[in-house]
Amino acid sequence: ARLSVRDALGARSTNGERVKVQGWIRSVRSQKEVLFLHINDGSSLESLQVVADSSFDSRELAFGSSVEVQGQLVKSPSKKQNVELKAEKIEIVGNCDAKAFPLKYKERHPLEYLRQYPHLRCRTNALGSILRIRSEATAAIHSFFKDSGFVHIHTPIITSNDCEGAGELFQVEPSSKIKVPEENFFNVPAFLTVSGQLHLEVMSGAFTQVFTFGPTFRAENSQSRRHLAEFYMVEAEISFVESLQDLMQVMEGLFKTATMMVLSNCTEDVELCHKFIAPGQKDRLEHMLKNNFLIISYTEAVEILKQASQNFTFTPEWGVDLHTEHEKYLVKHCGNIPVFVINYPLALKPFYMRDNEDGCCCDLLVPGVGELFGGSLREERYHFLEQRLARYLDLRRFGSVPHGGFGMGFERYLQCILGIDNIKDVSLFQDLLIRVL
Ligand code: 4AD
Ligand code: MG
Repeated sequence: ARLSVRDALGARSTNGERVKVQGWIRSVRSQKEVLFLHINDGSSLESLQVVADSSFDSRELAFGSSVEVQGQLVKSPSKKQNVELKAEKIEIVGNCDAKAFPLKYKERHPLEYLRQYPHLRCRTNALGSILRIRSEATAAIHSFFKDSGFVHIHTPIITSNDCEGAGELFQVEPSSKIKVPEENFFNVPAFLTVSGQLHLEVMSGAFTQVFTFGPTFRAENSQSRRHLAEFYMVEAEISFVESLQDLMQVMEGLFKTATMMVLSNCTEDVELCHKFIAPGQKDRLEHMLKNNFLIISYTEAVEILKQASQNFTFTPEWGVDLHTEHEKYLVKHCGNIPVFVINYPLALKPFYMRDNEDGCCCDLLVPGVGELFGGSLREERYHFLEQRLARYLDLRRFGSVPHGGFGMGFERYLQCILGIDNIKDVSLFQDLLIRVL
């Protein structure tokens, strides 16, 4: 039977069952009479030990090569692992010139170095763990929403709406090879989506609780540790929501429930990140999970920042948006517990936010990252919006209800739970699109 490394390691029967395992060589150690190989196929952090007699040529079995091993699964005499594979046949599928291979045997390469090799770094322990966690976190987020009764909506990627109105759009046009009879391929200017919110608002007007989780695009400066041109956003929209507090509870619930799920399903991978990439992160994350998230108003936040203005490049001032350095300071000031900053002046936020006296919007700031979520109650009152915007109006003419929602940057979430400093290390292929930092 063909087994993944993960299944081989977890095999219940080790009575010499014949199996076939395929993967990439992570280490070769040859002794007088035996040869030890470790092979990994991405299914788990741990590699499978293969034991062969010295008749196999160890020079052929280079670090990085792909192999297929047939043999017997047996109980390992060593304490380091339960199971090992006694090789009867080892076949090289693709060999690897170790001299030219950018990954070196037994070396722990810094993440900055690995960023140059997006196509190879997935074969390291560090990126292997991050990407398995990314996959598990995706499933955990879907499962949180499913268990809470939300309907998943696929919102469009190509759209004519500019939800955030911040001018960070990528325009979409057909390639110049295509002869378009009319002036435009689409009948209106088309863009890559900056947020699925407006489409979710439409759907929350029928399904009450909805969410989307997909790629989002912003043409903003990506020479930063927390901005990407292409990132994944988790967005939710809830009808009949009564207060900003209710909305914040869902955000905190999402963060904590998904994280607990990741911790229990990817224990080893998380441990690796917390041990080698971000020492101390285990305790920092526990601290976030066991405390209730805090709430301060924008006005209070500006007061706190003003007291410490000597620390900042940008002088904090009421009526001006918070900079990353301000956000990070606020989180520290709050004892490294995630904190909701509520009630920003409406002028700083997009048109759709409700003009509420007792609270309209919130950003959740988290340690190491700053802004992770943005959320608000939406302006559902027709006459208020009438003054603001014409095209949004039809959404409010037929059975309008109070509602609110939020968006969470998925890569920033991964940065926050794993303690990863640069967003480009939790998003594998970004480096193909933009310059490496
Ligand atoms: O605060 P933002 O712009 O909010 C919205 O787009 C709302 N329409 C969401 C909603 O209410 N449905 O973006 C939400 C989150 C941010 O808090 C941040 O975590 C992340 O998306 N984000 C980015 N992540 C990586 N790279 C970028 N360029 C990002 N821009 C925003
Ligand atoms: Mg925001």
